[in-house]
Amino acid sequence: MTQQRALHFPKSFLWGTASAAHQCEGGNTNNQWYRWEQQGRILSGEQCGDACDWWREAEKDFTFAEQMENGALRLSIEWSRVEPDEGRWDKDALERYRVLLADLHQRHITPVVTLHHFTEPLWFVDRGGFAHEQNVQYFVRYVTYVTQHLRDLCDFWITINEPNVYATEGYLRGVFPPGEKNLQLTFQVLRNLIQGHVAAFYAIRSIQPESRIGYCLHYRLFEPSNPLSPLDQGIARTQEGLFNWALLQAAETGRFPFPTNMFLPPISGAAGARDYHGINYYTRETVRFDPTLPHELFGRRFIRPGAICNDAGLDGSFGEIYPEGLYRVLQTVYRRTHGNKPLYITENGFCDAADSRRPAAILAHLAMLHRAIREGIPVRGYFYWSLVDNFEWNHGWYVRFGLVEIDPLTQRRVPRPSASMFGEICRANALTESTVERYAPELLDTIFGSSETHRQPSFFI
Ligand code: FCB
Repeated sequence: MTQQRALHFPKSFLWGTASAAHQCEGGNTNNQWYRWEQQGRILSGEQCGDACDWWREAEKDFTFAEQMENGALRLSIEWSRVEPDEGRWDKDALERYRVLLADLHQRHITPVVTLHHFTEPLWFVDRGGFAHEQNVQYFVRYVTYVTQHLRDLCDFWITINEPNVYATEGYLRGVFPPGEKNLQLTFQVLRNLIQGHVAAFYAIRSIQPESRIGYCLHYRLFEPSNPLSPLDQGIARTQEGLFNWALLQAAETGRFPFPTNMFLPPISGAAGARDYHGINYYTRETVRFDPTLPHELFGRRFIRPGAICNDAGLDGSFGEIYPEGLYRVLQTVYRRTHGNKPLYITENGFCDAADSRRPAAILAHLAMLHRAIREGIPVRGYFYWSLVDNFEWNHGWYVRFGLVEIDPLTQRRVPRPSASMFGEICRANALTESTVERYAPELLDTIFGSSETHRQPSFFI
């Protein structure tokens, strides 16, 4: 009998899915995203409403994670529930989180808890949120309270999700609350978020010395439309530098790169303030210089013609499916951080309501992840975004990332083929030939081909 070919992942590699409170819980009416929705700013005009009904019944969906033999599940705490008014703590809300975390433990699933995933209580927003440095203390007080009360149930924390998306979408492009378009403010917010992370890191560390604490950044690649055009090249490099690397550098060293360091005071204690690097990776963009777009830093971003894509969303923003980008991001983060900490893919996912491209996309990305690990990059876990379809911020229900499909009207669930596939991968802790053959036979050669094809994977590029 010939042996089945497989790409094995390291022992104790953590497989899971990721989610966020506002997108799944339902009934969150005390944060800025609810206000944004009330102002008619959701592109689809939809309402978050009961979302996936997790406040009442998340446990039902945790069963899918258990069936897939996931070792971890990433979820977030909704600050506006735990501290609905300044300094007033809601014990019942906290108790619900305790029940959820205990339920995960019973299923042998490690909870990974995000403390800030885009949403904040209105009282904090009305004080100016992260635009004001003096508000960081409120975030740290909330983090301290949560850690003190959940420390027996969680020791793996993500302080802040994607400061770069939060700041650029909300303060530069104006498509997330508070809808500002102000470059200087964007940087101020970024700085204060990193300061928030650093202060939260030390707060958690002092309560729970044995915990794992980090934050996650959203990494996007930007390619020049015409590689021979110095303008396209310059703009792509600037956008990529500002979106990904300036923030990584600031978080690593406490200082933003020149010239932004001229007006942003350094953050003390930043160096070493993390136990891992959290990486959220989705797509790459192609960029052409365009002098009419100052708010996009003079770059018109678009999808490379002919690319295999996610479902478009209402503004076409979900982009190209580009597996090699994951490898490139891992390599670059590893190099830029001098390999000082392990890495986790804290989000990677695809919106594909029909599930026609997702299985191949997951497999191709995992092959790239495996390649990085083979080359010595210490990636310790992978979280698919997301377990179930959920309310996608300013897009509403229009884009579907879930391994499990949800009809938001009836709350009916139907696992997509990708869910069975992900289960096979987690159980085997490997990409096996039979899984690839079943779900994306066109990838067999790319994934298991000669070592030459391993080095030069051709699919999806
Ligand atoms: C990430 C967000 C997450 C979800 C996915 C699709 O940027 O962290 O909440 O919206 O994109």
